[in-house]
Amino acid sequence: MVHPLPVITRKKNVRESPRDWRPDAGRGCVMVTNAPAARRADSIRLGPWHQGAVYGTTAALVVSGIIWLVLHYFLAASGEYGPQVHPLEPWMLRLHGAAAMAGLIVYGSLLPVHVRRAWSIRRNVVLGIGLVSVMLLLTVTGYLLYYSGDENTRPFISAGHWILGLAVPALLVWHIVSGRARARIDATPPEPMRNHA
Ligand code: HEM
Ligand code: HEM
Repeated sequence: MVHPLPVITRKKNVRESPRDWRPDAGRGCVMVTNAPAARRADSIRLGPWHQGAVYGTTAALVVSGIIWLVLHYFLAASGEYGPQVHPLEPWMLRLHGAAAMAGLIVYGSLLPVHVRRAWSIRRNVVLGIGLVSVMLLLTVTGYLLYYSGDENTRPFISAGHWILGLAVPALLVWHIVSGRARARIDATPPEPMRNHA
């Protein structure tokens, strides 16, 4: 079978460079783009509901954790038999436990698209892995706080857990700012080659 040779035609309105913004530039010609890669990059961004779920559960975890710390370390009333547990403390832990369960669903929901797509184009990987590692450590130490009955190790696990937890907002903001900056850089068309001869 004889294959026809490709015919290369030069069209009148072909865009000469990415900076060629003449109104008719590019009209009538086929744009060749790396479409699958562009689609992958687009789908890393979260929709408004998904973003709200990530920010909402993270805020609930951090706020309930911080209120618990304040109640426990600064507002415990002293009673006849030593410091008394503040009546709001157990409520904060209940709220925190509920937020932790929601958090596991919400963070888990990022794995199949957000994390997988970002990983496949190697974008924001270092801060992404950092964030996933912190979340995993919080989950493991949270589990140990809930189920470990050992009173000797509990204070260390507790301190490790909340110190990591307090770092979450800064780490998340850093992750988002750097991921968006990276996405903007990748979306900027390259400078046209200049002939300095
Ligand atoms: C617990 C894990 C993670 C959480 C909670 C998280 C959360 C977020 C959030 C809320 C945003 C801003 C969303 C937006 O701009 O629409 C974001 C952006 C981003 N994240 Fe993650 N992420 C996680 C893991 C990862 C990992 C592991 C990677 C890389 C392998 C990654 C790569 C990115 C990139 C590239 C952006 C910028 C998206 C863009 O604006 O195009 N993330 N992340
Ligand atoms: C993936 C994220 C997180 C998970 C899965 C998680 C889970 C848990 C669990 C299961 C507990 C034990 C609750 C109980 O004993 O009834 C706990 C306690 C606690 N968490 Fe978190 N947590 C997370 C994030 C955070 C964050 C961001 C903070 C921020 C400060 C935090 C601060 C605390 C504090 C102060 C306690 C009480 C410690 C104690 O009882 O000695 N956690 N967490």
